[in-house]
Amino acid sequence: MSQPWWSSEAMWRKCAIWVTAVMVVVLMGLTFDTVRQITAGGERVPGYDVINKKIFYEYDADRGYQVPRIGEDAPLFGQTLTAADAEALVEKGKLTTQAKNCMNCHTLLGNGSYFAPDLTKSWLDPAWINEGLREELMLNFLQDPMNNARTFGTGRRMPDLNITDEEARAVVAFLKWMSSIDTNGFPRGFTPLKQED
Ligand code: HEC
Repeated sequence: MSQPWWSSEAMWRKCAIWVTAVMVVVLMGLTFDTVRQITAGGERVPGYDVINKKIFYEYDADRGYQVPRIGEDAPLFGQTLTAADAEALVEKGKLTTQAKNCMNCHTLLGNGSYFAPDLTKSWLDPAWINEGLREELMLNFLQDPMNNARTFGTGRRMPDLNITDEEARAVVAFLKWMSSIDTNGFPRGFTPLKQED
């Protein structure tokens, strides 16, 4: 008895081989595209020396949410760093967040735990009162979070993690750099610190 064409085993075997082959090519293309988009210095993730600049948020009417913008010179702790020094500082901050396991309580770019606030845009958090006070308040908070607790009605406090002044500066650099990443509006509904012109 002859089978209809669509029920032949050979046809399905060929189909499986073709679909797999085509998807391998598509996934390779997507992987290269993702790497391009997430590399620092690329389209969405600014280079590390962005910490020498002012980072602020602006409503993008086309996209329907706020997006980070990079403004005039605003060196972190008043020091303009070379690209290499900025990278080293941000790297040290990232390693500190890993060594102290900040993700045990916080999320970074949405990854981690939900006990404490997401740190992706912490640099722009209104809790730092204004741009003039921010750097000092962040350093004080990171080194002595119990006595500088704000808790925002949650009653939750961050424990003292024995962060040195040097580590705190690196963490602030890491957080400033992270706030410049275009995250497609994540976290939703975030209201940034009041921005001075
Ligand atoms: C045991 C849980 C825990 C760990 C671990 C932890 N935090 Fe926190 N963190 C909190 C809590 C709770 C708050 C909110 C309390 C407050 O603001 O007083 C907070 C607040 C913060 C804030 C202020 C956020 C904002 O935008 O207002 C920053 C910045 C911060 N943490 C950074 C860090 C860093 C960096 C690390 C790792 C070195 C870390 N935290 C590790 C619990 C934790």
